[in-house]
Amino acid sequence: MSTAETASQTRPKKLFIRTYGCQMNVYDSDRMADALAPQGYEPTTEIEDADLVLLNTCHIREKASEKVFSELGRLKELQSEKRASGGDLMIGVAGCVAQAEGEEIARRAPVVDMVFGPQAYHRLPDMLARAESQRHMHPSLKKPVIDTDFPEEDKFAHLPAAKKEVTLTRGLTAFLTVQEGCDKFCSFCVVPYTRGAEVSRPVHQVLEEARRLVDAGVKEITLLGQNVNAYHGLDATGRPVGLGELAYLLAEISGLERLRYTTSHPRDMDDALIAAHRDLPLLMPYLHLPVQSGSDRILKAMNRKHTSAEYLALIDKIKAARPDMALSGDFIVGFPGENDQDFEDTLSIIRETGYASAYSFKYSTRPGTPGASLGDQVAEEVKTERLYRLQELVNAQTTAFHASCVGKTMPVLIERVGRMQGQVGGRSPYLQAVHLDGPTSLIGAIHQVEIIGTSTNSLVGRLKQAVAA
Ligand code: 5AD
Ligand code: SF4
Repeated sequence: MSTAETASQTRPKKLFIRTYGCQMNVYDSDRMADALAPQGYEPTTEIEDADLVLLNTCHIREKASEKVFSELGRLKELQSEKRASGGDLMIGVAGCVAQAEGEEIARRAPVVDMVFGPQAYHRLPDMLARAESQRHMHPSLKKPVIDTDFPEEDKFAHLPAAKKEVTLTRGLTAFLTVQEGCDKFCSFCVVPYTRGAEVSRPVHQVLEEARRLVDAGVKEITLLGQNVNAYHGLDATGRPVGLGELAYLLAEISGLERLRYTTSHPRDMDDALIAAHRDLPLLMPYLHLPVQSGSDRILKAMNRKHTSAEYLALIDKIKAARPDMALSGDFIVGFPGENDQDFEDTLSIIRETGYASAYSFKYSTRPGTPGASLGDQVAEEVKTERLYRLQELVNAQTTAFHASCVGKTMPVLIERVGRMQGQVGGRSPYLQAVHLDGPTSLIGAIHQVEIIGTSTNSLVGRLKQAVAA
């Protein structure tokens, strides 16, 4: 065997994953990397070095979907360049666009080797082997491997866990998916179609993954689910356990210092979960609880299954349990039929609730959703104007919330070196970025920090206790 051949066989293959969309996709991308590690794939941050590129896509709004096709155009060029210099590049499309438009992607972009949905990640090594076997076929015979089935088997039970060293490189905070899919069927949303029906992971699986993360040095876990507070995983006796009860079980893991969860639906914010916020200091006082609109007419048309008054009463109840709870939300402007008064009602609910942060979007018609067949679409310029006004209000609330923190001392999980020399950075309990002067030895623990100022989108702090340099 020549030296060149030996080198090519021993060189680890490089994997580049581009992640679009929500935190669940961030989690899934890591799990795909874990699934491919035993196949000899190492992650790279340089797309030019990659032997395999995976696009983990998002289908939630039209713009998010469109990005996939323009990225595939660029990848085709990269593949040609690599082939011209004797190399090669395999391309896979994963995630929700793949799930919703598998065949269409394969037809529009023949450059793709694999198209597979979020429920197929545990079958990735097998798909890769099938795609590789076609590598040298004539292009007319080559067919992309497509897997968009919702399998019977438990995907998570078949996905390998990350090695401890790998978890360590991913940082002090980690995502952990506990629930996938959604049965709520909000009339604007594709999630119930792309991610399927609600499925909760069994309690023991969640606890085991959490223990493994903490054992590798993770201090903060964010539980993920499209409708995370609808979690109802089974315990060892076959009894369904809600998210509140799960939080108490996770709180017993020694070394786990902070717990968060996202995204929640107001209808699933039950008493047990609210009690957990009252009782468990590790459950952080920051809650993403989207309301989408403040108009009862629009909430009904969106099939949100609650009124604005019910939402406000719920916020009161949550704040009674945890008075310093900071809230975050999602809003859609320009849902079909939304008139000026409906929009004013949305501004009112924002004023009344008071958000620490919020995400807002123009309504985007999604194929296959009930919203897509509604008449009375709102003009684009009206959507633009409403979005601007809403964001102005929310930005003012975010600024006011940051300013209200100045003078307070709060625990900050120091996670990294700061942008400036001699600085470190971390997160407040309310998920705000905090930076302060201090040695790198602070990284990895929670420290008491006095907030002395604000800068754009972050807080400036000063360490309270003395620390050995
Ligand atoms: N158009 C605009 N925004 C949407 N979202 C979901 N579907 C749509 C859509 N069709 C927003 C909602 C949701 C967030 C994740 O994305 O606000 O909470
Ligand atoms: Fe979509 Fe509504 Fe389910 Fe959230 S609760 S994922 S918005 S259908």
